[in-house]
Amino acid sequence: MKLQGEITVPGDKSITHRAIILAAIAEGESKIHGWLPSEDCRRTLNAVRAMGVSVKESGATLCVDGRGLSSLKEPGDFIDCGNSGTTFRLLTGLLSGQSFFSALTGDASLRKRPMGRVVDPLHKMGANIFGRGNGTLAPLAIRGKELTGIEYTLPIASAQVKSALLLAGLYASGVTGIIDPFGSRDHTERLLKYFGASFKQKDTRCSVTGGTGFSGKTIKVPGDFSSAAFFIVAALMVKDSVITIKNVGMNPTRTGLFNILQKMGATIERSSADTPIDYEPVANIKISASNLKGAGIIGGEIIPRMIDEFPILCIAAASAEGETIIRGAKELRVKESDRIATMTRALQAIGVDAKELPDGIHIVGSKQWTVRGGVQCKTQGDHRVAMAMKISALRSDGEIQLDDETCIDTSFPTFNKLLESLCH
Ligand code: S3P
Repeated sequence: MKLQGEITVPGDKSITHRAIILAAIAEGESKIHGWLPSEDCRRTLNAVRAMGVSVKESGATLCVDGRGLSSLKEPGDFIDCGNSGTTFRLLTGLLSGQSFFSALTGDASLRKRPMGRVVDPLHKMGANIFGRGNGTLAPLAIRGKELTGIEYTLPIASAQVKSALLLAGLYASGVTGIIDPFGSRDHTERLLKYFGASFKQKDTRCSVTGGTGFSGKTIKVPGDFSSAAFFIVAALMVKDSVITIKNVGMNPTRTGLFNILQKMGATIERSSADTPIDYEPVANIKISASNLKGAGIIGGEIIPRMIDEFPILCIAAASAEGETIIRGAKELRVKESDRIATMTRALQAIGVDAKELPDGIHIVGSKQWTVRGGVQCKTQGDHRVAMAMKISALRSDGEIQLDDETCIDTSFPTFNKLLESLCH
């Protein structure tokens, strides 16, 4: 068996969330082409609908009838964000500056994730937010009110926190300035600029001026690099594979895995995308099976640029000759699952030499590595763990069972179909 063929992956999850939210508060119609119809993004879609925004689904396009900054209506019930941290945190910022009451909740995983990181700076802007654990855990209740702009330096690399504050800043008096010393993903910034919002960026500081609206736009969503990542690693590690993935988002704040794989000896060629996009870099990429070497020590500035690719990077590391040691990635402990613990256990279950570190993992890979079949792996309901383990199974000498595969729908409902289409 080898992987062969040409595919496009579904639209970027982070960009889809942001496009829906910004289109909902823009003046006039926006069209979002190639949005990601996954469970997470539907949470955001349902949320804006619950606040009175009309959104029509027409094939791969969403038509959003935005009525301006102050058009949102009080939702009639809790907004259920399901598994989606992005929906939850971005909406916490957006809702803080509204003139109504709202409440946000989510599934068991989301209700364990830290929300103080977004609530604290919003409190500094004057927001009225209450929640379990002294306002640090969902559900959160928000009594919207007038906010005041602040200057804030992110203490952790979190694009969700940065985006929540920018959204709140659109409703605050004066300027809201955020310094992001970590270079977390900048899709909100790019979209604010593209929509024509009163947005400025200089070095690591970006800012918005409250009270100024913007008009609806046509937005093309690039393919999600985080989804492409599973097929990139699959093609690299299955002998004789050659695949091409078209129109993938190549925003440098997202492509840390690409840089690491190149360092590991991956053959990946990048060429111009068939369909360029004006506000985000995109490319076609061709991946050929390669003899990977261990990446050595990975840490520092690259971590935020590859944070969602940790599970699949572990699989690449397992199939590489030599060691890969990932450090400085404690944030992985508060993702959809504790990804350091979940991945270490799953790797050990399939026979990989993996050791859990407080802030990362130590993997001793092998070119000859074959997954021990007939094992059960626990995904902890984490979509990216489930997909990474499905890719590992391509090198299995027997069956690998996952306790939960339905979680894949969180970000990539067509994953299995696309993978099958590539396997020959
Ligand atoms: C995301 C930001 C990251 C990432 C998540 C999506 C976003 O989370 O892990 O999958 O769309 O802003 P943090 O902001 O918690 O780092």
